[in-house]
Amino acid sequence: MIKIAPSILSADFANLAQSVQVVEQAGAEYLHIDVMDGHFVPNITIGPLIVKALRPNSNMVFDVHLMINNPDAYVPEFIKAGADLVCVHAEACPHLHRSLSQIKELGAKVGVALNPHTPLNVIEYVLPMLDLVLLMTVNPGFGGQKFIPEVLPKIKMLSNMIQERGLATEIEIDGGINTETAPLVAQAGANVLVAGSAIFGATNPAQAVADIRKSAGA
Ligand code: DX5
Ligand code: ZN
Repeated sequence: MIKIAPSILSADFANLAQSVQVVEQAGAEYLHIDVMDGHFVPNITIGPLIVKALRPNSNMVFDVHLMINNPDAYVPEFIKAGADLVCVHAEACPHLHRSLSQIKELGAKVGVALNPHTPLNVIEYVLPMLDLVLLMTVNPGFGGQKFIPEVLPKIKMLSNMIQERGLATEIEIDGGINTETAPLVAQAGANVLVAGSAIFGATNPAQAVADIRKSAGA
C-alpha cells in the first residue's frame, strides 16, 4: 500500500488551509511539513505556529520533517502543536537514541531522516524503535530539486533490513518524486512518497496525487 505525502513547502503560503484541503480530499494520507532553520539547511520555513494553525483544518497524519539543529529543544512544541509523526535527521542528533525516546514518550510516532550520503548503519541499533525511516533523494533545503538515483540501492537495502528483522517500519522517500521516479522508489520498497513541486506545482494538484499513486502501481 502506497501512501502519498504532499509537501506543503511548494504550496501557496497565503492560502495554506485551502491547499491542504485539496490534497486531503484527493485522498493523500500524510501531510508532509518541512521545518528548516537556516542552520542545518540553508533555508528557513515553517515553525510550530503554522502546524498549530493548520491542525483544526485537517485530519491527515501530520508528518513533520525537522531539518533543524538541536531538534530535541523543539520537539515538545511541535507535538503540542499537532504533529502526529516527527522525523529528526540522524546528522543533527549526536544522541539519537535520546532524541527518539523523547518523541515516543510525548506520544508521537517516530522517524529518522537520512541525507543521501548517510549510510544505513547509523540506524542499525535504533531500527526497532522506529515507525518510519525517511530517505532523502535530494540534499535537503529546497523543493523542486532533481532526484538522486544513487539512493535507489539504499532503499532496497533498507527494505531488506526491515523484512529480515520482521519489522513494520515504513520507508518514506523525499525529494524529486514525480510520476517518473515514483515507480522506481516503490519498486525498491518505499511505501510513503513525499511530493512537493510535482503536486502543488501542477495545475491540478488533486489529479497529481492520483497520478503519482497510479504511477507507483497502487
Ligand atoms: C526538501 C524537503 C522536501 C521538499 C520536496 O528539503 O524535505 O520535502 O518539499 O520537494 P520536491 O517534491 O519538489 O522535491
Ligand atoms: Zn521533507
